[in-house]
Amino acid sequence: MTTWEELERSCLSCTKCPISKDRTNVVIGDGNKNAKLMFIGEAPGEEEDKQGKPFVGRAGKLLDLALDALELSRENDFYICNILKCRPPNNRVPTEYEAQNCLPYLRAQVKLVQPKIIVCLGATAMKYILGRNLKITQDRGKWFQKGEFHIMATYHPAALLRDPSKREDFYRDLKSVKEKLKEMIQF
Ligand code: URA
Repeated sequence: MTTWEELERSCLSCTKCPISKDRTNVVIGDGNKNAKLMFIGEAPGEEEDKQGKPFVGRAGKLLDLALDALELSRENDFYICNILKCRPPNNRVPTEYEAQNCLPYLRAQVKLVQPKIIVCLGATAMKYILGRNLKITQDRGKWFQKGEFHIMATYHPAALLRDPSKREDFYRDLKSVKEKLKEMIQF
């Protein structure tokens, strides 16, 4: 999967997991495919499954609003996708089997976008991108370097809808992302 066409074809025809039978759309990703910044969430929800785009439901609107305030847009500044490309029933957390089946698509996507900064939205993305020994409450907001990538995890925007007290930390993390992006663009 070394071209977008190949990746998209592979995702659209994928039937590795039983959840593929219930999907309306495969949700591959959205935004600027040449962006320096990439956000990775968990899996499509109901609205994403309907529209075929990531983060277009309530959580996505909250994320877009926060990023708008930092003058970061999908169109110009970032690419966004998920660990899973199909919606798990009732938005349950992806199983290990589903994540391992879907990760090759995400790896191909990262190679095609070539971001400098990756932001994991929530514990599931953090687990598969940064490793299992981290905790979102303790390790969010910290920068990690893995190869050429600068990686940070922050709360999933859906967590802010459930617990507004997390908003302050979330905005602080996104500000740090914007600062890092400015640094990266200078070099
Ligand atoms: N939650 C996610 O993790 N991803 C989406 O695309 C939507 C909601």
